[in-house]
Amino acid sequence: MSLDQYKESPRPELFDFHGVPMSHFFTDNWENIQNFQARPDDILIATYPKAGTTWASYILDLLYFGQQERQTSVPIYDRVPFLEAFFPPHHSGKDQADNLPTSPRLIKTHFPVQFVPKSFWEQNCRMVYVARNAKDNMVSYFHFDRMNLAQPEPGEWSNFFQRFMEGKMVFGSWYDHVNDWWKKKESYPKIHYMFYEDMIEDTGREINKLCSFLGLSSSAEDKMKVTEGVQFDNMKKDDMANYSTNPVMDFKISPFMRKGKVGDWKNHFTVAQSEQFDEDYKKKMKDATLQFRTKV
Ligand code: A3P
Repeated sequence: MSLDQYKESPRPELFDFHGVPMSHFFTDNWENIQNFQARPDDILIATYPKAGTTWASYILDLLYFGQQERQTSVPIYDRVPFLEAFFPPHHSGKDQADNLPTSPRLIKTHFPVQFVPKSFWEQNCRMVYVARNAKDNMVSYFHFDRMNLAQPEPGEWSNFFQRFMEGKMVFGSWYDHVNDWWKKKESYPKIHYMFYEDMIEDTGREINKLCSFLGLSSSAEDKMKVTEGVQFDNMKKDDMANYSTNPVMDFKISPFMRKGKVGDWKNHFTVAQSEQFDEDYKKKMKDATLQFRTKV
């Protein structure tokens, strides 16, 4: 479908799917997704939407395949397919993943941990999870829902703010998502849990950690090149990384590569909202081992 066709179609509704609010674009292909056959060297990049998925995808893609022509000819969302995405007549994310020519295959998901197809666990695949502080994540999601015509209407900010706290978002509650993936690390050590704020603070350091986890022995020079290449301004002007080729997004409303900052929430939350949010956050985030930063 083209942007115009999406503009004419109604926005999708949220519905309860195995206990998680979802939209049909990510559940219509459920059976096939659950039967996905992972390979032992597949790498799953998992995030709550707007936590830095594209950034992490781009980093991994450059680390593995930086020298190839794909970078200048294939958009990032085709280099790293979105497993559960199903937007006919386009190929489903699952089919794209099946047909990826690369080795390893880099595959993206926003699924809460309990939805991940069992084959990934059976094959003992590596998984990279990126989490972002809830306030900035919420703001980024708000602007995304404004510009992405395949997402439910965000409505007014104050309304979106309430819904986010209630977990009524596509892919469910941020609180459950980040906590459940965090807990999963205890029983499944091949999850590398990263924070968006750490990546902003020191991208090179986080790339080093990622390389250790992946068992990559990239040279210091190559890592420097990747660190430079994945800076916000470089990605924003790269049409293969900035989603400008994606038909469901209306960049006149808001660009995909929007601000790329920690602390933009301060430009959106009122003082009263921030207080209400912090109160509620304390009740929901009981695990003291999982700490987020709202400024760096
Ligand atoms: P903002 O809306 O706050 O700007 P995702 O890829 O999970 O959809 O996340 C998108 C968010 O990550 C957007 O946040 C986007 O700008 C930010 N982002 C993408 N690439 C980035 C980079 N290289 N550096 C910093 N932020 C980046």
